Amino acid sequence: MLQHAPLDDLQICVLAAGKGKRMCSSLPKVLHPLLGRAMVDYVLRTVEKLQPKGIALVTGHASELVQAHVGNPANLSWVIQDQQLGTGHAVRQCEAAIRDVRDVLIVCGDTPLLQSDTLRQLVARHRSSGAGITVLTAEVSNPFGYGRIVRAEDGSIAQIVEERDADATQKKICEVCSGIYCVRFDTLFTLLHQIENRNAQQEYYLPDIVPIGLQHGVKIDSDTMRDADDMLGINNRIQLAEAERIMQQRIIHDWQLQGVTIEQPESVRIEHGVRIGNDTTLCAGCQLTGNTAIGDNCEIGSYSIIHDGWIDDGVRILPYCHIESASIGNGASIGPFARLRPEAKLDSDVHVGNFVEIKKSVVGHGSKINHLTYIGDSVIGEACNIGAGTITCNYDGANKHQTTIGDHVFIGSDTKLIAPITVGDNATVGAGSIITKDIRKGGLTLSARPEQRHLPHWQRPSKPHQE
Ligand code: UD1
Ligand code: CA
Repeated sequence: MLQHAPLDDLQICVLAAGKGKRMCSSLPKVLHPLLGRAMVDYVLRTVEKLQPKGIALVTGHASELVQAHVGNPANLSWVIQDQQLGTGHAVRQCEAAIRDVRDVLIVCGDTPLLQSDTLRQLVARHRSSGAGITVLTAEVSNPFGYGRIVRAEDGSIAQIVEERDADATQKKICEVCSGIYCVRFDTLFTLLHQIENRNAQQEYYLPDIVPIGLQHGVKIDSDTMRDADDMLGINNRIQLAEAERIMQQRIIHDWQLQGVTIEQPESVRIEHGVRIGNDTTLCAGCQLTGNTAIGDNCEIGSYSIIHDGWIDDGVRILPYCHIESASIGNGASIGPFARLRPEAKLDSDVHVGNFVEIKKSVVGHGSKINHLTYIGDSVIGEACNIGAGTITCNYDGANKHQTTIGDHVFIGSDTKLIAPITVGDNATVGAGSIITKDIRKGGLTLSARPEQRHLPHWQRPSKPHQE
């Protein structure tokens, strides 16, 4: 990967004080997640890649929630904007937090698709052209909601007009403002102090530094984004879903280029924290979320959902499994329709079949639990066969109790193991048993079975004939 020099004469301001009214949410907008990561985290990670001198994060609405979420990264300073009087007002609050830098890069906290190369290019252009303000713009097919870039006859930027202040002709302009600017530090605050709030929203608009700058003879330049997706601003939940779709496509392309086969990619969900090995196939509709890690040569069946799962190499997950905080060893086969709950730990070559639920249990190498079974709070040894319909009765209504099963044990179908209970190595339990006492090694254990009777002359009741 290309190494870039740190931009240690650059200050970054991230604007994240707004409530995000259009989200209609009690959660501040920048904390809404996309693919398992909050909006603001994407923006912070992107700007950190520039290695700037400092990052000022402007918060206001529910700032304590944002602070609790972000924590205290080393070069981040918190700026509180008590009243959200507009983007220009927000940047003005940063004045005391910034000193001794060449330029200030301003970005919004609601543009999570932004990539660091786009910002680097903006800063480079700003510095090579010697402009006082460089605005990052984009050509979009639907400019609704964005500030429109109004250019003079010579092509230079004259002003930026917000949706609500634009006339019919201006509304047709498809070149829009990304909300991202690089501004010389020695110019920025002089201009900001002159902004007024005479506009439709009665807010102090940051874009107004452009016409004010022009009045002061400041050189204004612009840089056009190559990929307009990068600046997608999220104001409502339709845009949230759209940004998530684009983000998902990026993640999927990354994994495809790293050797993962993905069937019907548009149906698959892969969150940010997920890792996947080579030659693994993800079937249509599967979802990998949280800190899930998947090894090489695995197959993840259709509509299986794995959250915080740890899956070793060569594992086959059949369709419709639900796996949460569980680990699965080499070569195991799970499902279809299996449920692995937190702390299920399956060793290599374990087979778990349909309608099996396993919770907080260890299952040893090569053991098979193939049908309709509940295993909870248990330790099962190697090479066991747990018959259909086995239940570890682990809960007495108040406490959970442990079941321990040795190696090479055969549990017959429809057995109930009343915990706490231990079954020794090589033991066999007959079908239909209710086991209440510990079983020693080897031999066959059966609980009493009711006598089987045969009534050869018995007749089924029949319905009375109706004419
Ligand atoms: C803003 C720009 C618009 C641009 C668009 C790009 C202004 C006036 N408009 O519009 O030109 O095309 O972004 O996405 O700048 N914020 C604060 N304090 C405030 C107000 C806003 O911190 O007082 C923050 C918000 O939390 C948000 C960002 O600034 O992260 C942008 O605010 P938002 O209300 O989303 O502006 P837009 O209407 O999208
Ligand atoms: Ca916005």
